[in-house]
Amino acid sequence: MKKLLFTALLALPLTLFVPAAAQAQKKTTAKATVQRDQLLEGKKVYSKFCASCHQLDGGGVPNLNPPLSKTIYVLGDKNRLIKIILNGSNESLEIDGETYSNPMPQLDILKDQEIADVLTYVRNSFGNKAGAITASEVKAQRTKKK
Ligand code: HEC
Repeated sequence: MKKLLFTALLALPLTLFVPAAAQAQKKTTAKATVQRDQLLEGKKVYSKFCASCHQLDGGGVPNLNPPLSKTIYVLGDKNRLIKIILNGSNESLEIDGETYSNPMPQLDILKDQEIADVLTYVRNSFGNKAGAITASEVKAQRTKKK
């Protein structure tokens, strides 16, 4: 009985930590699933920083800027995709038999969260369906780069 009381007393201050724990839990789920907020924020970043070249519908511009629908870069390895944003790309990429000769500028001025949002948006727009990208995944690539 004494033990029970002790446990009850112990549990009281613990409840104060529950909101923090719930928050942490939320973060972990955000890793796996695509959150609506992330798509909304990502769309804003996309319109501002990507649409001028890749177009609002992700269709790109023939021979200049590649499309973003169902390419191996968008749907494939997350780290490679993150690096395209952080470092830019000047590889004359070939997509669906067309080469795109424009260079893509590096956009490392964007924050980790902004890059995570925009890439999650791209990976879930224009006919794409792929997992979310988190700010910590972006951060890991940025740290590697330095
Ligand atoms: C100044 C024009 C420009 C801007 C702005 C730009 N890109 Fe690009 N992007 C390009 C070009 C050109 C390539 C091809 C580069 C190459 O051939 O190496 C490319 C390649 C890519 C690729 C890999 C190829 C593909 O089609 O899958 C992705 C993904 C991508 N860009 C995403 C983005 C995102 C997301 C943004 C905004 C955060 C962005 N780009 C902003 C021009 C641009």
